[in-house]
Amino acid sequence: MSPSERTTATITTPIYYVNDRPHIGHAYTTTLCDVWARFMRLAGRDVFFLTGTDEHGVKVEKSARERGLSPQALADENAAEFRRVLGLFGLSNDDFIRTTEPRHERQVQQFLRRLESTGAVYLGEFEGWYDEGQEEYHTETKAKELDYKSPISGRPLVRAKESNYYFRLSAFQQRLERHFEEHPEFVRPVGRRNEVLGRLREGLQDVPITRTNFSWGIPMPGAEGHVVYVWIDALFNYATALGLGEEDPQASGRAKYWPADFHVIGKEILWFHAVIWPALLMALDLPLPGCVYAHAFWIANGQKMSKSLGNFIDLEAIAGYQERYGLDAWRWFMSTRGPLGAADADFREDHFADAYLTDLVNTIGNCASRVTAMAERYFEGEVPCPDDPYRIVDGQDWSAEFDRAWREAESASSEFAIDRMAMAGLGLLRTLDGFIHRTEPFKIAKDPARRDELARILHQSLEVLFAASALLWPVLPGSMDRLREAMGQPAATACGPLREQVRLDAARRFGGVRKIALFPRVEETAKG
Ligand code: MSP
Repeated sequence: MSPSERTTATITTPIYYVNDRPHIGHAYTTTLCDVWARFMRLAGRDVFFLTGTDEHGVKVEKSARERGLSPQALADENAAEFRRVLGLFGLSNDDFIRTTEPRHERQVQQFLRRLESTGAVYLGEFEGWYDEGQEEYHTETKAKELDYKSPISGRPLVRAKESNYYFRLSAFQQRLERHFEEHPEFVRPVGRRNEVLGRLREGLQDVPITRTNFSWGIPMPGAEGHVVYVWIDALFNYATALGLGEEDPQASGRAKYWPADFHVIGKEILWFHAVIWPALLMALDLPLPGCVYAHAFWIANGQKMSKSLGNFIDLEAIAGYQERYGLDAWRWFMSTRGPLGAADADFREDHFADAYLTDLVNTIGNCASRVTAMAERYFEGEVPCPDDPYRIVDGQDWSAEFDRAWREAESASSEFAIDRMAMAGLGLLRTLDGFIHRTEPFKIAKDPARRDELARILHQSLEVLFAASALLWPVLPGSMDRLREAMGQPAATACGPLREQVRLDAARRFGGVRKIALFPRVEETAKG
């Protein structure tokens, strides 16, 4: 089935480590997924949007010890914090999975039993270059390339040897390469795909999937002292949330959401998602996700964000922006100016203020207030539907324009091009701006003989505002619903499928329209 024929749509964020407080990185990925999920719901799909927390492993154990807490207590505290943030940011996830939940632990063990029984998992000895901070082994080639230092912390890699359970990753080399070739969209953006494919072609070695040097993890079934490696444990969340590892995988009613259309992640965890995860799924005979989308990183004022520099855009900083500019402005900046492609993006207040002014104040806000103000002034908010309402005025064919915007938004959504999705709605309003400028309704209004012409221009303008508000709603849900209310229209989610909302419809009545100011200039916010 092609993705567009599916009635369900599934998207996931990485599950976040509970040894850290939420910051812009987590907020970014989750917001992108939220925009996509809202778009798909509005488009009529049955959506499952998953996020959660990754709670096992040495790092969590160590952070807990430092704070004099049990790992579970630390996990409980920080998982609650991540949940609180989701609520605060209006993120619309359908489930929140924690890897310490019994439903997850039980299923991971079930998956491992299955893998062991087919020989994809076996007991053996391993030696390699280990990054202690990342809990990750590197091959000799890779270690040499890294100058035997962790690419993340800069600390030396150590030579480590362990008797462990292994996943027979090497057996999946060819199938993985074939999958990459047959599905060029499997890893996006394309630069990242080529990176992984290059490394894949260097050859795959079996990987250890249990540890014996700590205890804060899921016990490997039937193997005393062996704990499942945190990354293997974590990857399975995408399947355990849907109950796929339960005795009856259909019982939860969520099997229909498998596989995910998108696993959205940051570039640093691509290898696990694009190679190890699909190989595990192949070994389990489960269908692979449609796409692993790896975005780049936010940096802050030209510098990498790090604990030592103390320059993380943290929750307090984010709350400051949301207070000053509004939650939707935050979502807009995340969606249109972030590191969605291959390059990192710099978070700077002047960039934020620029985007706010150009797109929200001067384009969306300005169009909305002009059109609603004219409707109020010239027709007391009751704009009649004129005869021949869609006669082309001044060469402006709105029907064709709507089709173009819809196609653009839809194709952008299928590629996870969240920025282009946002711009499709904005583009309509830019065109509307030009239309008003050229047709000059404020002049026509002076001539009582031209009432019908005036009504036609305003009616068409209101239709454009209506369509644009639907296309923009996934990014700007609060302000677009306010705009619709000011146009006397129901909320976006109450108006049927998105496609129908981006169509001219002579039956649509615009009554009770009143002038609206959507995005105040920020100096004004500060004053008032
Ligand atoms: N627990 C693992 C993921 C397991 S998924 C099966 C993990 N967690 S994390 O808490 O470190 O979160 C990593 C994710 O946070 C990144 O993949 C990315 O989505 C997001 N970000 C963290 N820092 C970031 C930036 N500076 N910029 C953008 N996003 C980044 O890794």
